[in-house]
Amino acid sequence: MTLRQSTDPTSPGAPLLEVRDISKTFSMARSAREFFTGKPPQRLRALRNVSLAVAPGEILGVVGESGCGKSTLGRCLAGLEVPEQGELLWQGQRLHAKGDRKLRARSIQMVFQDPYASLNPRMSLGQMLEEALAVHQLGGSAAARRDRVDELLLMVGLTPKLRDRLPHAISGGQRQRISIARALAVEPRLLIADEPVSALDASVQAQIINLLEELREKLNIGMIFIAHDLNVVRHISDRIAVMYLGEVVETAETEALFAQPMHPYTHGLLAAIPQPDPRKRTRAPSIEGELPDPLNPPAGCSFSTRCPHMTPDCCSQRPALPAGVGSHPVRCIYPLTFKPSV
Ligand SMILES: Nc1ncnc2c1ncn2[C@@H]1O[C@H](COP(=O)(O)OP(=O)(O)O)[C@@H](O)[C@H]1O
Ligand SMILES: [Mg+2]
Repeated sequence: MTLRQSTDPTSPGAPLLEVRDISKTFSMARSAREFFTGKPPQRLRALRNVSLAVAPGEILGVVGESGCGKSTLGRCLAGLEVPEQGELLWQGQRLHAKGDRKLRARSIQMVFQDPYASLNPRMSLGQMLEEALAVHQLGGSAAARRDRVDELLLMVGLTPKLRDRLPHAISGGQRQRISIARALAVEPRLLIADEPVSALDASVQAQIINLLEELREKLNIGMIFIAHDLNVVRHISDRIAVMYLGEVVETAETEALFAQPMHPYTHGLLAAIPQPDPRKRTRAPSIEGELPDPLNPPAGCSFSTRCPHMTPDCCSQRPALPAGVGSHPVRCIYPLTFKPSV
């Protein structure tokens, strides 16, 4: 794995995409009683003051438990959701929700967890890829478009002979390869892969991860690789952002995050990774307790209800994620500085 330039928003290298302090809430459906009594709908805070950046050719892993806001973040970046607060900058230029739709559609593409749900079951693989080119007036003449489809199939490790197959007639791994080919059709600069391997068998997971890594090398494409499992993002990511209850709680280069996790939540995630070698097992507890109700989050630090190092301050003060203090910001009043044996 090659480490790319630092994407700390304060570093001099220009990021491809920069996320500055975005927040997003969803309005919850009201019951009939609430509706008739005029009670305002409750708002669920899916993202809270999220800041991060990704450089050209860099893979940023985003990891956290189910419901922590990973997909909402991906959807905000791709323009499928609009954050209420904060801004997104594409190569230093502010992205606008409406006006920059075309730029985003060409520059940022998403790959989803379930390739079957995102592919049209009645269209052949070739037709789907041709359609992706046609939507953006790419590929030129019919013959040139056909050649480009073959090229895309080869790029994702599939034989062009599969072009007439329907999605149900190929394997899950091949379907995810087609989703990736479709995303690559418009030559995006940034790929957001939202749990792209979570629905696949372990051996196929590794193949898809290798493919994404190869594509990054070949195309110098930036990626945001979302997963709920820290082990899955480890091998592909240059840097990792750890999310908890809608917040980024720690961001660091992958090696640094594994060698010296500073947030108690990250430490708990690392402790939960099974270690076959007993000498390498850590005595740190894995995370206990339930994820708090996102409609009723803790007042101070969002992790305070489950943190083994919680102090009274943690229940009243919300820690900031400091910007510009090196490449390992952590949202904790008392960041852990010990070196765990994981
Ligand atoms: N369209 C929506 N309407 C209401 N709540 C939503 C919507 N999308 C996501 N949420 C809520 O926002 C939170 C974050 O969801 P999500 O981004 O899907 O998390 P993740 O991808 O990490 O599992 C969850 O509590 C989820 O229930
Ligand atoms: Mg998700």
